[in-house]
Amino acid sequence: MQAKIVVLPGDGIGPEVTAEALRVLSAVAKKGGHSFEFKEELMGGCSIDRRGVALTDEALAVCKASDAVLLGAVGGPKWDDPSAKVRPEQGLLGLRKGLGVFANLRPVKVHPALVDSSPLKPEKLAGVDILVIRELTGGLYFGQPKGREVRDGIERAVDTLEYHDFEVRRVVELAFRLARDRKKKVTSVDKANVLESSRLWRSIATEIGKANPDIALDHMLVDTASMRLITSPASFDVLVTENMFGDILTDEASVLAGSMGMLPSASIGDGGPGLYEPIHGSAPDIAGMGIANPVGTILSSAMLLRHSLGLPAEAEAIESAVHAAITDGCRTKDLGGSLSTPAMTDEILKRL
Ligand code: IPM
Ligand code: MG
Repeated sequence: MQAKIVVLPGDGIGPEVTAEALRVLSAVAKKGGHSFEFKEELMGGCSIDRRGVALTDEALAVCKASDAVLLGAVGGPKWDDPSAKVRPEQGLLGLRKGLGVFANLRPVKVHPALVDSSPLKPEKLAGVDILVIRELTGGLYFGQPKGREVRDGIERAVDTLEYHDFEVRRVVELAFRLARDRKKKVTSVDKANVLESSRLWRSIATEIGKANPDIALDHMLVDTASMRLITSPASFDVLVTENMFGDILTDEASVLAGSMGMLPSASIGDGGPGLYEPIHGSAPDIAGMGIANPVGTILSSAMLLRHSLGLPAEAEAIESAVHAAITDGCRTKDLGGSLSTPAMTDEILKRL
């Protein structure tokens, strides 16, 4: 097959890890007779430096016209001033909104060989296989009004947590569809004892649960969920939640896997190009040192093949190769090893 893939290396370790994922995608293309065209664009701090904004309209248009977008990471101390008018994160939020990718899939699995890298007891980690689905284009991140003002000498700041019924419905329905191929269990996480938007969320989830009686649905308050992710992570299958709760819970869940560097993500919408990125940040402290773990980005490229290009066998081949490399003891520094970023990829390519 033919596909146009836009690559947004971004900042910090972003360029290092996306380069490795492209090596893997190229190997897959060569093996399967596919033709992938890669086009690089600027997004994040690098775009601020060269174009004055974190994402230009032109770069967004190129992304929209592609089959899929692969992103490294954005941000860094250079652009960290919280009062700055332009910030790298604006590019990421603009891209998510612009592509309409309302569902962020963050799978969290614990490789048996990495249980000792997690601060949790090994017996807690057995059987952990969670798919977190975070709503990505609504809630506090985008609700209006939003802003700061000084009135009568008092400064006020406001963010708005707003959800429309259709925004909740489409992401919860996706959670049910994906649960059907898994353990058939959906946990809908909200704060319905306090928030009106959560009460809307819960009533829609309940309605969808009734229409899908083959899937077990339970509702959990976000504070309880944050505790249960640590005390009984193996009890979750699909967890679906709103944008901000999902942001926080996925960082928490990543600790289960031993290193943030291991975890991929896919952001998908209604048929347009998907956005694929590791869940880690730009890690400016190790940027340019060649020691970043490329696995999160390589697994994100597997998700790209599965969700945007309809190549599930190729996706599985990458996932198996990563699994085998980890089983055989291949480790970057974050996991206590000494392999460089390209050397880790070499080990994965050998097993592909
Ligand atoms: C994430 C990140 C982003 C978010 C930041 C960089 C804006 O934390 O992808 O989880 O909050 O969504
Ligand atoms: Mg986050």
